Amino acid sequence: MYDEAENITFGKGMTKMTRTATLILDGKKYELPVHEGAEGEIGIDITQLRAMSGVIAYDPGYANTGSCKSAITFIDGEKGILRYRGIPIEQFIDYPNFIEAAWLLIFGRLPQKPELRRFSELLTVHAPLHEAMKHHFEGFPVNAPPMAILSAMINTLSCFDEHLARFEDDEKFEVAAAKLISKVRTIAAYSYRRSMGQPFIYPDPKLRYCANFLHMMFSMPYDQYVIDPEVEDALNLLFILHADHEQNCSTSTVRMVGSSRANLFASCAAGVCALWGPLHGGANVAVIEMLDQIHKGGLKPEECIKLAKDKNSGFKLMGFGHRIYKNFDPRARVIKSQCDKVLYKLGIHDPLLDIARKLEELALKDPYFAERKLYPNVDFYSGIIMRAIGIPLDMFTVMFAIGRLPGWVAQWKEQHDDDTMRIARPRQIYIGERKTDYTPIINR
Ligand code: SDX
Repeated sequence: MYDEAENITFGKGMTKMTRTATLILDGKKYELPVHEGAEGEIGIDITQLRAMSGVIAYDPGYANTGSCKSAITFIDGEKGILRYRGIPIEQFIDYPNFIEAAWLLIFGRLPQKPELRRFSELLTVHAPLHEAMKHHFEGFPVNAPPMAILSAMINTLSCFDEHLARFEDDEKFEVAAAKLISKVRTIAAYSYRRSMGQPFIYPDPKLRYCANFLHMMFSMPYDQYVIDPEVEDALNLLFILHADHEQNCSTSTVRMVGSSRANLFASCAAGVCALWGPLHGGANVAVIEMLDQIHKGGLKPEECIKLAKDKNSGFKLMGFGHRIYKNFDPRARVIKSQCDKVLYKLGIHDPLLDIARKLEELALKDPYFAERKLYPNVDFYSGIIMRAIGIPLDMFTVMFAIGRLPGWVAQWKEQHDDDTMRIARPRQIYIGERKTDYTPIINR
């Protein structure tokens, strides 16, 4: 729509009463609608920008770009706020029930007792893998990276349940979600058992979600792993704290893949691959490797800080910094507080925790980190708790994936249910060769 009097171009379907932002380019004015979120966030709508002006916005890494509207998770990075469907994550400390939090994220409210019971029953019933899937583990080298196995086996799940590739209603979706959330645990445990040369341990239908995972990881056919309620609570809380984080790299990957109408399993398998990166979910492994290197005397904490500040070192203080949190990461605060509690109850003293605290103290006093607003993130202390529980280092990112899966499912469903959703297809600024001609090889 074009307003002659003010020589302004309006986007399609815009009314003059819409709150707008004005873009002025080469003397021409363009009015762009403005969206306001539930917590007052403002987003300038550029969906019509190219149609109106012929130009695009440019934002590598999408640090300033909203890809969607979502009602699942709210983060205020300046205030260190993280809420799942409006509930601050700190409130889950006293109610560490990962499956309840998963249902909340996926279906938008806390479940009633019958709903939670049904979902728990679905998780129990669907914990085992198809017997034929067990042979797939033999196809991987014994030292195969567990994240590679996890991604491959999540995709394979849909081969054994063809209707999982599509679901006509919420009930079928709930079954698919339960199958995925339940079996990811079994896949993770089996990949660990295979790497140890130990027999697979079947899921025990009498055990709750986290207890069953620990059972499949650490029981032997002749020796049932004894579930410590403190450990079970700590694992529930750890998974809850990882469960969703709005449009992070791996969740955006799940949405990107799902936007082509790829099925839930293929989309989550892609999310596993994105999470694997050391700048993302792989950081929890890198943090422990860094702390262990210091512990073994290979590096002093002060040297760590110095290297992290030296651009030429290629070294980063792993577990520090965040795209969104420019204050503390509330998850890091909760996990740090749980470290003392879990280690004390397990009678463990982990020298890496002391080193982590020393590093945090040095960094937070250093202008380099203060100026860049770099604080501990979710990965900085999470490995300490996983070590205390007995999770092996190469399974740490798998644990992150198990925790994040309900968030991926929730985000995928929210996009899938949105009739206005379009396939994700960003544009680019081309910087390559201008038009040139083909040169036959005889002339090259
Ligand atoms: C997760 O997005 C999410 O929500 C992710 C996550 C989730 O729940 O899904 O929260 C999970 O991935 C947590 C992050 C785990 N990754 C790490 O701990 C790896 C170390 N951190 C960095 O690589 C970095 O901080 C990122 C990747 C987390 C954020 O990267 P950004 O937003 O692109 O920031 P940047 O790299 O542009 O850094 C800005 C400045 C740079 O210095 P200058 O060029 O301005 O001088 O800060 C510096 C960076 O060099 N910097 C660091 C640093 N992190 C940023 N310097 C040293 N050590 C670090 N860790």
